Amino acid sequence: MPDPAVTANFSAAETALMERVFELAAKGCQTTQPNPRVGCVLVKGGEIVGEGYHGFAGEMHAEREALKHAGERARGATAYVNLEPCCHQGRTPPCTDGLIDAGVVKVIAAMRDPNPLVAGGGFETLKLAGVEVASGLLEEQARWLNRGFITRMQSGRPWVKLKSAATLDGRTADADGFSKWITGSEARSEVQLLRAESSAVVTGIGTVLADDPQLNVRLENVHRQPMRVILDSQLSMPLDAKIIGDGDNVLLFTCSDDYDKQGAFAELGVEVLHQVGDQNRLVLEEVLAELANWQCNEILLEAGQTLCGAFLQDSLVDEAVLYYGGSMLGDRGKSVFVSDAAISFDSRPEFVIQSADMIGPDARITAVHKASKARLAA
Ligand SMILES: NC(=O)c1ccc[n+]([C@@H]2O[C@H](COP(=O)([O-])OP(=O)(O)OC[C@H]3O[C@@H](n4cnc5c(N)ncnc54)[C@H](OP(=O)(O)O)[C@@H]3O)[C@@H](O)[C@H]2O)c1
Repeated sequence: MPDPAVTANFSAAETALMERVFELAAKGCQTTQPNPRVGCVLVKGGEIVGEGYHGFAGEMHAEREALKHAGERARGATAYVNLEPCCHQGRTPPCTDGLIDAGVVKVIAAMRDPNPLVAGGGFETLKLAGVEVASGLLEEQARWLNRGFITRMQSGRPWVKLKSAATLDGRTADADGFSKWITGSEARSEVQLLRAESSAVVTGIGTVLADDPQLNVRLENVHRQPMRVILDSQLSMPLDAKIIGDGDNVLLFTCSDDYDKQGAFAELGVEVLHQVGDQNRLVLEEVLAELANWQCNEILLEAGQTLCGAFLQDSLVDEAVLYYGGSMLGDRGKSVFVSDAAISFDSRPEFVIQSADMIGPDARITAVHKASKARLAA
C-alpha cells in the first residue's frame, strides 16, 4: 500500500502513470543486473509521448529510451521515472543531460538514487537547469522493486532471498533425508523465475553432495544465467559435480588450503575464493561482502537446513519465499532450519508476511524480515 503521507501531493493520474513506469521497469527484472530496474514515461498534454526501460547494463537507460521514442514530442514534457536520473558518465552518458537537452520541463521520480555517484546530484543538476523536480511518488514500491540494488549500495551486501519447499508441517525431507517433489510442477517452474531474477544462486556443500543439482535457469529465451555459488569450507565438492556445468560463472568459497584441488577447480573455470573463516568454517557476512564485490544485487539461497539455519541465525535472511505442498512428515522429518543453539521466544527472528497465494495445488508464502523491511524504508 502506498504511504498516503508520501503520495498526498500527487494526483490519481500521476499515480497511474508511475504504475505504468513500474510495469516497464519490471521488464528488466531478469537482465539489468548489476544495474537497477528502471522505467520511464514521458507525458505531454495528458498524452504519453514516449516510454522506455533499462534492459541490459551498458545499454541505454530508461530515460534515453523514452526520449528516443518521443523524439521532438519530448519538448515541454514531464518525465515519470522510478529512480532519480543519473548525472554521471558511466558506460552511457548522464540521463540528466538527455532530459535537459530534449527540453523536458518536469521530472517526477519515485525515489532518490542510493548510488553514491548520484545520491541527489541528479535532482540538483535538473533543478539548476530549470527543470521542476518532485520525488516520493509510490516510493515504497520503488524501493521494493530495487531492494537488491539499494541493499548493495547502502549495506555493502546483496539482498538475501531464501527459498524453501516443505510439507504442510514445515518439513523438507524424511528422517533419512530423503525427499522428492514435495511441491508440484507449477511451484517448481516458479522457482526457475526466482533464479532468473537473481544475481546468484547460493547453496551449501550438503545440498551438492546429497542432490548433485545444477541450480541453473532452464527457461526458454534465457538472456543471462545467474552465478552459481557454493559454500564448501573443507573443499569436499567433487570435480564432476553437475553445478559446475561448463565452469563459467561458478564461485566456490572455501577455507581449505588444498591448493592442488583449488587448482583443479580453477582449470575447470571455477573461481575459487579462499577465506580464513572462523574455526574452519566460512563467515557468511564475509561471503556476502565478497558477493557485493562481484556486483550481486539479489541472491537466492537454495540450501539445506544447515546453511539456511546459519543465515537465519546471523540475521542475514531478508526475504523468505516458502512453498508448502499438501503432505506432512511429522517431527522426525527434517526442518527448514537447524540452529546451533535454541532460539528463545523473545529473540526469535520476526518476519512480516507480505503475501500468501496458491501456486497450482501448493501454497506460497512470501515474508520479509522486520529489520530488512525497516532498513529498506529508511
Ligand atoms: N526443500 C528445499 O527447498 C531444499 C533446498 C535445498 C536443499 N534441500 C535439501 O537439504 C539437504 C541438505 O541439507 P544440508 O543441511 O546437509 O546441506 P546445506 O545446508 O545445503 O549445506 C550445509 C553445509 O554448508 C557448509 N557451510 C559453509 N559455510 C557454512 C556456515 N557458515 N554455516 C553453516 N554451514 C556452512 C557446511 O559444510 P562445511 O562446513 O564443510 O563447509 C554445511 O555442512 C538435501 O537433502 C537437500 O535435498 C532442500
